[in-house]
Amino acid sequence: MLALVTGASSGIGKEIAYSLAERGFDLILVARRLEVLIAIKHDIMGRHGVNVAVVKTDLADPEACKELYKKVSRFKINVLVNNAGFGVFGNFDETDLDSELELINVNIKAVHILTKLFLKDFKARNSGYILNVASSAGFFSGPMFSSYYASKNYVVRLTQAIHEELKNSKSRVYIGALCPGPVKTDFGRRAGVVFSVSGMNSKYVAEYALKKMLEGQVIIIPGILMKVGKIAGKILPEAITAKAVGNFQRRRHEKAMRIE
Ligand SMILES: NC(=O)c1ccc[n+]([C@@H]2O[C@H](COP(=O)([O-])OP(=O)(O)OC[C@H]3O[C@@H](n4cnc5c(N)ncnc54)[C@H](OP(=O)(O)O)[C@@H]3O)[C@@H](O)[C@H]2O)c1
Repeated sequence: MLALVTGASSGIGKEIAYSLAERGFDLILVARRLEVLIAIKHDIMGRHGVNVAVVKTDLADPEACKELYKKVSRFKINVLVNNAGFGVFGNFDETDLDSELELINVNIKAVHILTKLFLKDFKARNSGYILNVASSAGFFSGPMFSSYYASKNYVVRLTQAIHEELKNSKSRVYIGALCPGPVKTDFGRRAGVVFSVSGMNSKYVAEYALKKMLEGQVIIIPGILMKVGKIAGKILPEAITAKAVGNFQRRRHEKAMRIE
């Protein structure tokens, strides 16, 4: 069994890679930092005795995403984990346009391209798993984190729609979206924010995600807080949830300013 994990050089993706290796999967690990990937490859091979290949790819480039698929499509990949992603924090009129276009490329376009290309193969074989790492941000609008929340809404809705199509065609291919709340990773540092609630452990999130994926759950929400958050998001009017998310993000901002 072979799995491809994007964004495997740190955080949730790295832990998903370790958890897959513990289950006996061979791995293809993708990210930009090649040296980091190589160190992880050797550690995983030493610990778990599986085969690991690494591919340095900048997923912000749509052509590189297509190239990645071409490079690996000769192998029989059983699991695709679209995990790579990042956030851009701040009021929309103040954030950097180029960083947001990069975000759209990585969080939306790369997920879109790889899902489409691999799904065709998986459907033809009538087997395979696609796990898209979205976020609980995908259930809300996100003042001060607007493009990030919007990108994760795209991933959640795309995943749900494809799941429905697969169900209608009686396909055995799985697609699901992992939707955690805050997780302790490099995410906050890259986005320039500090979580105002303590983040979940990334190993726990990875293990939970794989367990639920193998059980066939479509929307995977680790932890009680965000399960409640999702229900609240369905019941409460948008004006209230947007205000609550905005307040939550502002507290992050203030905390980050105090630390700086
Ligand atoms: N941490 C949270 O609170 C949280 C909560 C919900 C969802 N998520 C989602 O979880 C996913 C993983 O994030 P994380 O928290 O684990 O953050 P992280 O530790 O910063 O990891 C992000 C990963 O994405 C890769 N990446 C970023 N830009 C890339 C690009 N242009 N090309 C290729 N790879 C790229 C990074 O690798 P390189 O830098 O080596 O390229 C890294 O491996 C993201 O989709 C994020 O939105 C995170």
